Amino acid sequence: MSKLFSNLSIRNLTLKNRIIMSPMCQYSAHDGFATDWHLVHYTSRAVGGVAAVIQEATAVCPEGRISYGDLGIWKDDHISKLKEIVKVIEENGSIPGIQLAHAGRKASCELGWKRGEQIKEGENSWQTVAPSPIPFYETDNTPAELTEVEIEKIIYDFALAAQRSITAGYKIIEIHAAHGYLIHQFLSPLTNQRKDQYGGTFENRIRLLIRIVDAVGLLLDESHSLWVRISATDWVDNGWNPEESTQLASLLKDKGVDVIDVSSGGNLPHVKIPVGKNYQVPFAKEIKSRTGILTGAVGLITEANQAEEILQKEEADLIFIGRELLRDPYFALHAAKSLGDDLKWPLQYERAK
Ligand code: FNR
Repeated sequence: MSKLFSNLSIRNLTLKNRIIMSPMCQYSAHDGFATDWHLVHYTSRAVGGVAAVIQEATAVCPEGRISYGDLGIWKDDHISKLKEIVKVIEENGSIPGIQLAHAGRKASCELGWKRGEQIKEGENSWQTVAPSPIPFYETDNTPAELTEVEIEKIIYDFALAAQRSITAGYKIIEIHAAHGYLIHQFLSPLTNQRKDQYGGTFENRIRLLIRIVDAVGLLLDESHSLWVRISATDWVDNGWNPEESTQLASLLKDKGVDVIDVSSGGNLPHVKIPVGKNYQVPFAKEIKSRTGILTGAVGLITEANQAEEILQKEEADLIFIGRELLRDPYFALHAAKSLGDDLKWPLQYERAK
């Protein structure tokens, strides 16, 4: 049997294989509410055999959305449609997960397929916030520097969002601390120039994430698992770097985080990133080997053999698949066939196996 199709137990959860649907914004929500698009989109990947579905970045407060089309979980009314999604993912043999997010200075943008530029005024725009008043693009509006009281509110928003996620039935809670969104803006000295307890030293820059993890962790029992997505590097000198990521992962492990989902970049514009096959895998490997925490590899992993090799070489424990699952919802079923493994097809599709 391949490693890609071996089980992995985390707390009381059993992942039936190592393929995880990577969170991907659909820009199809209204006032944060999920729609039938989300129901069909996530159900299809569960039917397609992934071990877990991590739902796209779901905002913990309205101004934490990247765009007006983002999913949200800032009010109880959001829960009922999310419950439907969770139920159907589980009925189709996959574990439902949710990525909780705040976009910080990268909020108030157009939908992804409308180029995603910032909407600076009028309908569908709002005042962005950040650790320091530095816009992402020079031409963007300047974000408001968060006060310590406002930071407290954001930590509270993450905790309430996690509580609602549990009520909806999600089993994996992933905190989005990557891609230049709010938490990453705090981690990196290039975007965090605060002089208070949230800026300056490594301990201060990671404080927001640590406090969120502490607050969310208190709500979870053994039937849930807490994951954190990070960008392992800003890909520039003097930015957030792999060494700091490893130190952070070690602290998160001690705090009960089960998986580090290892991505990179996104915090600064105009950065040269050597994008290519497996380009982020070395970061997952480094964090795994130096801390012993479970890691997920992501980025341009598109083939069964490629995923299997990463696992065989112990470079990561889980494989997050993004765009390949948009092209092929049945990626996992096809991957099992190509590796000679037996992954249960839906009975309705048996004759196509
Ligand atoms: C993404 N990605 C992403 N990442 C994340 O952490 N939260 C999100 O909501 C999104 N949204 C999103 C939307 C779309 C349309 C794409 C294509 C990507 C990044 C994604 O999860 C993944 O890390 C990258 O796409 C790289 O993996 P692949 O696509 O090469 O497998």
